[in-house]
Amino acid sequence: MKRRVFLKSGLAALALAGAAGASGTFRSLMPGRFSLITGTQSVQAAAGFRELLPIPPLLEDMSNTADSVHFAMQVQAGSREFFPGMSTPTLGYNGNFLGPTIRVRNGQQFRMHVQNELHQTTSLHWHGLHVPAKWDGGPRQPIAAGAGWDPEFTIKQQAATLWYHPHAMGLTGEQVYNGLAGLFFIEDEVSDSLDIPRAYGRDDIPVVLQDRRFFVNGQFAYVQGRHDVINGVIGNYLLVNGVMQPRLKVHAGMVRLRLVNGSNSSIYTIRLSGSKSFQMIASDGGFLERPLTMDSIILSAGERAEVVVDFSNNKLDSQLSLLVDQLGGNSFEAMAITVDRPAETVVKIPSSLLPLEKIPASEATVTRKFIMETMGGGRMGMMGGGLSINGRKMDLNRVDARIKLGSTEIWEISNRSAMMMSMPHSMHLHDVQFQILSRNGRPPAAHEQGRKDTVLVMPGETVRIISRFRDYKGIYMYHCHLLEHEDEGMMGQFEVVA
Ligand code: C2O
Ligand code: CU
Ligand code: CU
Repeated sequence: MKRRVFLKSGLAALALAGAAGASGTFRSLMPGRFSLITGTQSVQAAAGFRELLPIPPLLEDMSNTADSVHFAMQVQAGSREFFPGMSTPTLGYNGNFLGPTIRVRNGQQFRMHVQNELHQTTSLHWHGLHVPAKWDGGPRQPIAAGAGWDPEFTIKQQAATLWYHPHAMGLTGEQVYNGLAGLFFIEDEVSDSLDIPRAYGRDDIPVVLQDRRFFVNGQFAYVQGRHDVINGVIGNYLLVNGVMQPRLKVHAGMVRLRLVNGSNSSIYTIRLSGSKSFQMIASDGGFLERPLTMDSIILSAGERAEVVVDFSNNKLDSQLSLLVDQLGGNSFEAMAITVDRPAETVVKIPSSLLPLEKIPASEATVTRKFIMETMGGGRMGMMGGGLSINGRKMDLNRVDARIKLGSTEIWEISNRSAMMMSMPHSMHLHDVQFQILSRNGRPPAAHEQGRKDTVLVMPGETVRIISRFRDYKGIYMYHCHLLEHEDEGMMGQFEVVA
């Protein structure tokens, strides 16, 4: 509670500072010709909840064998009516906005042809995937306008809800904002055999949460000033799978929601109306050791959680809603949920899911410190380019950490908070799933004790994580997943070497 108040005042101070001191480094992506659509969605709640929650189609596999998959993905421009009669220019994968769900199995050979039909460079990164560096799809693997890219690798990873999005240098935030993102599910024997809902789109529901801001002509209002870079672009409308205020119809049984914070920079607290509780079964990198009963969950930009909701005690035709609060921002009635049919399946969530092999701290041979700073101190000037990690901004020609292949490291990540510049950060590492050893010297909460690739670091906090760097050599990214921070240079490179 205290933290929240502190943060709010920090954000307010930032907004003022940004407006007053807008520096020259900021590149305006959309000249402010139009004013913004103001007010929040909750005001219009009564008008919404008519459209059914769209379920992204599963991407069609063109291979004929069980041990391989072969996909085709086109990155394209389009448009969509978020407001009736008003067309918003968008980007999408194989469509107008967002993309199909990629579903693979552990051990499969993965192949994809990606065709960039945009007039600008993009890339395709698999967030959370343990993948050879040259197929990571980060800033080192740009796909030029009109060009193709043909990644090919083996899935070496347990069941998890991952996602994909573009990651070209300096363009990530804008392209994600315009609609480029999709889900990437890995399944395996464990996810097959556990007694959990698994019928895609019926009782296993993807829920991609993204807030947006619009101009009165319907265009997305991406970064408008320096304060948007520092605070992140915080929207006053919330999309669920690309739609405002949809309705989800569920059976009166167990329903699995795969929650993804796909926003650019928001931190969401997610809950159900009536304080209805749910069971969390998986974090970023897969199943928890056992289900965890919770009544709300916080996800920072890039984080995921799988939860199971039991609707068996809800009467037919009863209404609930999914509520989403932005930290220091708006509150949304994000989605209506109607129980519209009797239970189709009966599952009893097992009391244990998947044991976690805890990486002992003693296994680590190296401890590194990473300081995430919103203000660069005197050297960079008060309002200047002050978003950095260890005082540096991203440079493709510089490797920030060399890590021995096969070794285990502890990373100590601090959010150094200067009075006026308190911003939360969301640290993400490519290549690995890590474990959180401690948050401010204390063991992490139960829901953060599993497999993670992204972690929220609040102002003043220090989070220690541990990870093994196995299988692949090469250069990978680590960065703040507040995408405006990332594009502004809050990113570095680690190289795994022999
Ligand atoms: Cu979700 Cu470096 O990315
Ligand atoms: Cu990633
Ligand atoms: Cu950040």
